[in-house]
Amino acid sequence: MVIDSARFADPSSIPGTTWQWISKKLLMPKSILVTGCAGFIGFHTAKRLLNAGVSVVGIDSINAYYSQELKQDRLALLSENKSFRFHKIDLTEKETIANLCSQIQPQCVIHLAAQAGVRWSIENPWAYLDSNLTGFLSILEACRHNKVGHLIYASSSSVYGSNKKLPFSVEDSVDHPISLYAATKKANELMAHTYSHLYRLPTTGLRFFTVYGPWGRPDMALWKFAEAILEGRPIDIYNYGQMKRDFTFIDDVVESTIRLIDKPFKPTISQACDSSTSAVRTAPWRVFNVGNHSPVQLLYVVELLEKYLGRQALKNYLPIQPGDVEATYADIEKLAEVIDYTPQTSIESGVEKFATWFGQYTSQKNNQAHFSKAA
Ligand SMILES: NC(=O)c1ccc[n+]([C@@H]2O[C@H](COP(=O)([O-])OP(=O)(O)OC[C@H]3O[C@@H](n4cnc5c(N)ncnc54)[C@H](O)[C@@H]3O)[C@@H](O)[C@H]2O)c1
Repeated sequence: MVIDSARFADPSSIPGTTWQWISKKLLMPKSILVTGCAGFIGFHTAKRLLNAGVSVVGIDSINAYYSQELKQDRLALLSENKSFRFHKIDLTEKETIANLCSQIQPQCVIHLAAQAGVRWSIENPWAYLDSNLTGFLSILEACRHNKVGHLIYASSSSVYGSNKKLPFSVEDSVDHPISLYAATKKANELMAHTYSHLYRLPTTGLRFFTVYGPWGRPDMALWKFAEAILEGRPIDIYNYGQMKRDFTFIDDVVESTIRLIDKPFKPTISQACDSSTSAVRTAPWRVFNVGNHSPVQLLYVVELLEKYLGRQALKNYLPIQPGDVEATYADIEKLAEVIDYTPQTSIESGVEKFATWFGQYTSQKNNQAHFSKAA
């Protein structure tokens, strides 16, 4: 088990060169590579691993898609732990990524770096091809050549497109993406399957459903709503409020991800010989939904924000945006079976935690701006 192996003593504390060599070879826990560690989910995942005593090597390009200051603030917190190493690398720098992997020989790679966001992909398609396709290939190649034990990577609920069948199941067809972002995520699942099949690289894709919580993303609805409510600006509510999302609290997402580290898929002989089996089942490849299995109306979330921020929202009702879907709802039965865990955070408690953090973080930033102006 990955987390237990990290309990071995720090080899550098054992005197004598032979001991150092032996302990490095045998005792030193291998590290986990977390890409996108300055991002929302990557930051929480890295933090959780570090708290469990695991060495984490993080990479991120700290791109300017949203506040780089927020990304630096997250990194500053991670850097407080001496088992954290950070490398500012872009996923498209394939040789740098290959060299890093060969140097650290990670036992598992948790690949969360990507160009996220459905709406931005309409205006900036190339960013998605570079980070999500070329970048993903850099990771696959690095894993393949370094015999990484498990590649866990972020896919997205957007692969379901405008699927009308609810809840969304990993068995559903996902051949009709309605945004380029979704197309790149579906492509990642296909690319991963190829590497699982050809090189027996164990891969697990996670279709995340609207992840939210402290240290979240400024381009996502919850942050935008909270910011506008506190500043007294109107909030844009798409599809005239007729939107349901399977909001999933960050701690539940991280818990699910971490529990998968030592559970790469190992297809059994009976699965491989099953007459109904497709090639999928013979490769160490699988995908899961990571959602809350409890969709809520967007307007209810706004009500909760109003309650916990202590201010009323001004609402600007708008039609649905291109690339958006009306409802998301995750079937999480398969994941729950494998990891023996289902999300524990109610929307009420999750939004309260987010609102509390948001209030504190923004007032701290406002104070800093005020003092630097005064100085
Ligand atoms: N947050 C959600 O609700 C959600 C839902 C579905 C899927 N996802 C996926 O989960 C993953 C993590 O999402 P997040 O919410 O933490 O997003 P995020 O934008 O906060 O984090 C992504 C990080 O990747 C980095 N990055 C982007 N392109 C890069 C590149 N070319 N090279 C190196 N670093 C790069 C960014 O700087 C950022 O820090 C992404 O793959 C995203 O598509 C997230």
